[in-house]
Amino acid sequence: MSATTRGCPPLRGAVIGYGFIGALGHLPAYAERRHRRGDVEIVAIADICEARRELAARTYPEARIYADHHTLLAMEADGLDFVDICTPPCDHAAIAHAALDMGLHVLCEKPLTPTLGEAAALLEHAEAAQRVLFPCHNYKHAPVVRAIRDIIDSGRIGDVQAVVLNTMRNTHAKGVTEWNTHWRRHREFSGGGIAMDHGSHSFYLTFDWMGTYPVAVTAKMTNMAAMRYDTEDNATVTLTFPNGLASAQLSWTAGVRKVTYAIQGSRGAILVDDDDLQVAVMRATDGPDVAQGAVDWDVERCSIASHWGDASHTTWFDALLERFRRAIATEDWVSRDAHEAYRCVEVITAAYQSAADGCREIPLYGSVHLLQHHVESVAHVGEAIAVTS
Ligand SMILES: NC(=O)c1ccc[n+]([C@@H]2O[C@H](COP(=O)([O-])OP(=O)(O)OC[C@H]3O[C@@H](n4cnc5c(N)ncnc54)[C@H](O)[C@@H]3O)[C@@H](O)[C@H]2O)c1
Repeated sequence: MSATTRGCPPLRGAVIGYGFIGALGHLPAYAERRHRRGDVEIVAIADICEARRELAARTYPEARIYADHHTLLAMEADGLDFVDICTPPCDHAAIAHAALDMGLHVLCEKPLTPTLGEAAALLEHAEAAQRVLFPCHNYKHAPVVRAIRDIIDSGRIGDVQAVVLNTMRNTHAKGVTEWNTHWRRHREFSGGGIAMDHGSHSFYLTFDWMGTYPVAVTAKMTNMAAMRYDTEDNATVTLTFPNGLASAQLSWTAGVRKVTYAIQGSRGAILVDDDDLQVAVMRATDGPDVAQGAVDWDVERCSIASHWGDASHTTWFDALLERFRRAIATEDWVSRDAHEAYRCVEVITAAYQSAADGCREIPLYGSVHLLQHHVESVAHVGEAIAVTS
């Protein structure tokens, strides 16, 4: 199929990084969408690892394969609409700037960048170039997370005042074996450990559920493998919002792979344990001062298949891609999602600063354009993080 459902030519893209998420998450989702809707096609792939290039060539014989993004952009940019960046975070900014320089839209895996200065520069570049910069914030599109959104929107649990997110993993996430499987444990590639790797998912969910951005952060981190690795494997991050608190617990040593989320509202709460969702809504009472034990709740339970065990999350990608397409169509160069990505990097870098400074509360500044002082003050925090073994 070559024509879109709307009669426009398909968006033509290139994937940079044919590793775990590129090969098992993004490319299968593009192929499925191309087959179903015909509004996107991947014409080129770049990877610095020869074995990954060989696999890409075998799997996608119609795509042109390149050894790096420079060559790909030099050869392909004229015929492309966008690049999709699936490399480790250390290279996100350089690849995104190169693509924006060539007039291309950019879809970028999380975290947008390891440092706040890089994130601010990218948002500014996209705005100036009038090209879309869009982060892969795919947890928003997990079916059970969409159900949380619907319940909050319905008003049944009242105003959200606190959220608790627990992300349990039995190991650090690993990259493909042909390249650098443990890059997430080496700061030069990742920019940090689990807070950098998974923090974005937890933090953009808190923004969404609290309905605003946080104003301060405190954090504590540990590294139980400090003899081998220079990044943390456990992090506890507390965010202060104008309307409440959020707490994110992130672990690569949890002995289990699971998420649990608690969203607490003024009249009820939502509890999620992977696919299982429970919503408790307070029955009408005479007012807030009824005696303890005199209040009843209506409790509903359901299970919403969300495929949490599949770390490629390929089934969540189509909804994300649709938002990217819409941002391009509406010329929303630096969308709310891009600002959320920036705020995630702000929270993550402030969390490192707090952990390195005895859990001191770090204020957040928020606006990209008012940030030069803040950017300079936290730019080197990653290097200073104190992790205990
Ligand atoms: N949104 C999600 O749910 C999710 C899940 C997994 C990974 N990710 C993100 O995807 C990105 C990649 O993670 P992964 O698990 O796929 O890692 P990976 O190691 O499996 O894959 C990275 C690939 O990029 C290639 N590469 C490295 N540097 C490159 C460069 N400069 N140019 C071209 N190719 C390069 C490597 O050879 C490798 O094939 C990271 O940002 C990670 O945080 C997101």
